[in-house]
Amino acid sequence: MTAMVPRLFLDHFHPTSLIAEDAEDADGLGGFLIGFMSPAYPDEAYIHFVGVRPDLRRGGLARELYERFFELARAHGRVRVRAITGPANTASIRYHTAMGFTVRGPVPDRDGPGQDRMEFERSLDVGGAA
Ligand SMILES: CC(C)(COP(=O)(O)OP(=O)(O)OC[C@H]1O[C@@H](n2cnc3c(N)ncnc32)[C@H](O)[C@@H]1OP(=O)(O)O)[C@@H](O)C(=O)NCCC(=O)NCCS
Repeated sequence: MTAMVPRLFLDHFHPTSLIAEDAEDADGLGGFLIGFMSPAYPDEAYIHFVGVRPDLRRGGLARELYERFFELARAHGRVRVRAITGPANTASIRYHTAMGFTVRGPVPDRDGPGQDRMEFERSLDVGGAA
């Protein structure tokens, strides 16, 4: 999945991205989220990638990263978050479903010929309970 995160995402989107540090690990990285406020759609935020170190999965870390990003998006006046994944990524589909996203797909050829994708969308419930 390293191809999902070319350096440009880190260079240009670090102000709205998150890192979870593991103080007990020499490498220090527990997980991360790359997201941004959509320049094209002023009421939307977009999460490009979330990753949690394999030994830390199913402990609620991705949930916390998403909840923090939702707060950031609300603070930027965004009312909706979108993300996508491949149809084979069942962990991601289950995770996004658990996080309250609607799931649409597979959308054929969404990212080019033969590149089907699942689309996720979640309201930020601005002004109401999250
Ligand atoms: C998807 C991913 C980020 C989830 O991270 P995580 O820290 O394990 O997720 P959480 O512990 O916060 O899970 C929250 C809820 O999502 C659901 N969920 C998460 N992973 C799941 C899985 N593999 N199978 C089923 N449900 C899952 C569960 O309901 C979970 O709550 P529970 O553990 O109390 O049952 C992680 O599996 C990962 O890094 N995968 C590889 C990278 C990737 O595919 N990223 C998404 C592409 S954009």
